[in-house]
Amino acid sequence: MRTADIGLIGLAVMGQNLVLNMADHGYTVAVYNRTTSRTTEFVNGPAAGAAVIGAETLEEFVGRLTRPRRVMVMVKAGRAVDAVLEGLVPLLDEGDIVIDGGNSHFEDSARRVSDLRERGLSFVGAGVSGGEEGARNGPSIMPGGYEAAWPEVKGVLQAIAAKVADGTPCCDWVGPDGSGHYTKMVHNGIEYGDMQVIAEAYHLMRMVLGMTCEEMAGVFRTWGRGLLDSYLVNITADILGHVDGNGEPTLERILDAAGQKGTGKWAVISSLDLGYPLTLVAEAVYARVVSSLRDQRFEAAELVGSGVKQADGLGAEFVDDIHDALYASKIVSYAQGFMLLGAAASEYGWNLDYGRIAQLWREGCIIKAAFLDDITAAFRRRPDLPNLILDRFFADALGNAEAGWRRVVATAVRVGLPVPAYASALAFYDSYRSKRLPANLIQAQRDYFGAHTYERVDRPRGEFFHTDWTRPGG
Ligand code: 6PG
Repeated sequence: MRTADIGLIGLAVMGQNLVLNMADHGYTVAVYNRTTSRTTEFVNGPAAGAAVIGAETLEEFVGRLTRPRRVMVMVKAGRAVDAVLEGLVPLLDEGDIVIDGGNSHFEDSARRVSDLRERGLSFVGAGVSGGEEGARNGPSIMPGGYEAAWPEVKGVLQAIAAKVADGTPCCDWVGPDGSGHYTKMVHNGIEYGDMQVIAEAYHLMRMVLGMTCEEMAGVFRTWGRGLLDSYLVNITADILGHVDGNGEPTLERILDAAGQKGTGKWAVISSLDLGYPLTLVAEAVYARVVSSLRDQRFEAAELVGSGVKQADGLGAEFVDDIHDALYASKIVSYAQGFMLLGAAASEYGWNLDYGRIAQLWREGCIIKAAFLDDITAAFRRRPDLPNLILDRFFADALGNAEAGWRRVVATAVRVGLPVPAYASALAFYDSYRSKRLPANLIQAQRDYFGAHTYERVDRPRGEFFHTDWTRPGG
């Protein structure tokens, strides 16, 4: 009977493309799908002639796998993963390995690592990024979980992963528990932020400068050859340049109401749980929510007026300002994202290599960008860097972009155009570098109504005081 080196469960687009990628790299792959017809269609269709073995039952699927068995699960995050595990785990033997490549929540993955260990099995929660194109030709893969399994799955995962220029795979061991899926979650949060800062640049050029899609496509193409060289900037140039059968820009036909599957939201929730600011990503999540309130937006526009007041006297130099606002806000977003990774590592006891994580994202994933090399360099200079803003390279980059960034936010405020990501990033930047913030008044208010006490500037940290604000002299 033909045996397989690895198995994959879940033949949706991502699953199918990962299987074909594995087969391209010399692996024989057994495949199983709950709907058998999909297995048959795949094996006889896209996988025809490839080293792919279809199985109609889980028992047949498991029976095809060489030991230690390696099974990749590519199904919808949540209950579907647990349902697959309920049927699969009893068929596995000690030492076998399950890799979950879906967008699972990191707490679910941590639970699954523990649950499978009780049966002598290994669970790897691997974030996979890059969409169907990445899955087929090279995704970014962020595996974490039971580390003893890594040598058994390293070969196949690094073979199919995207590679940076020197051939290093964008796949390496992240850490224990749910750290792999946590890293993917932070990737997705940053992805939301990247998409929002790009969208705000587009909105400014379209609404304030009155530029056409074709003109904006040219700007993004130019930006994509410089500091903003990235997948998302480059596909934005393609999107802006795309015309329908009538020669009309396709983008103009698309409804301005954004969806979200929730991974960006998860990142914001985690930032609140851990007490770290992920303000730009939060604004990106809420910008999608506000965009979806389209009926209310139209009612508000009728009631209080809408539309962007024209801003006279703005020309090509304002496009350069927008570039600087986008770049500076992107730096803040990544600074916050890596700050959150550090907070999670501290909270959960993970030892994360932030410079390496930036390299995992260098190719294959949605946020892939040349910019990530600068992040790796910063963490190589200072592995315990608390925030990218504290690295001289990024401090200088923000300083150089600051004037244009401020002009863009000021102009947007003056003409009534929302730039939540640019503005929140600027507020974070100004707060993070302030020697004086108004939190002393917050402390006084809290002590006034709740006797929550406060520390003093002239006493050691950790000493707390209370004032009876209702009597003279306190
Ligand atoms: C990736 C993407 C992917 C994500 C989709 C949908 O890394 O390939 O992040 O995992 O699920 O982009 O994301 P939203 O619907 O949340 O925008």
